[in-house]
Amino acid sequence: MATYTTGSTTPQGSAAPGHGAEGEGHPSRRDFLQIMAGSWALVGLGAAMWPMLAQMRPDSSTIAAGLPIEVDIGPIKEGQAITTLWRGKSIFIRHRTKEEIETARSVAMADLRDLKAQNTALPDSAEATDENRVKAGKEQWLVLVGICTHLGCIPAGQAMGENRGEYGGWACPCHGSLYDTSGRVRKGPAPRNLEVPPYAFVSDTKIKIG
Ligand code: FES
Repeated sequence: MATYTTGSTTPQGSAAPGHGAEGEGHPSRRDFLQIMAGSWALVGLGAAMWPMLAQMRPDSSTIAAGLPIEVDIGPIKEGQAITTLWRGKSIFIRHRTKEEIETARSVAMADLRDLKAQNTALPDSAEATDENRVKAGKEQWLVLVGICTHLGCIPAGQAMGENRGEYGGWACPCHGSLYDTSGRVRKGPAPRNLEVPPYAFVSDTKIKIG
């Protein structure tokens, strides 16, 4: 088990787009690391406007082994988000505002493009309600695999002030797919909602992913 905290202070920047060839819809590990390197290079740019959150990068052996990781979410204030890595994948953790939660829960199923929850903790038949995308009683926390389901780019929207698209979630810079505040695809070529990875709350301020 590897543990990572958000203790220090840099803003979470968005990553440069990238495509992958390691399986359909997923970037290769090399592409992913290049993407993340670009992301970290941008970190300093928004320091004046984004109160400081850091991400700790799991070491390569942890990534390769696919070990679970623990993330300290205590420092993430409402409206903020961080990105971490698990099994070589970008993982988005967003502390949603009440407005974001209400907006996500007001969406009719008929307005969704992918009706499946895409939550690894639920059966494949589970509907894509916002309730099915988060943990009960912890609905302010949205945990997602941050990889566009079209061709594997990293959607923008993690950093404060970054374009999140008209649905307030994430906007993929590659071909314009838009996701809402539940990580569900609402527009563009992406076929599926952003996946909810396996995770659990270890405490009120710590989650285990994997
Ligand atoms: S990879 Fe995101 S829209 Fe194409």
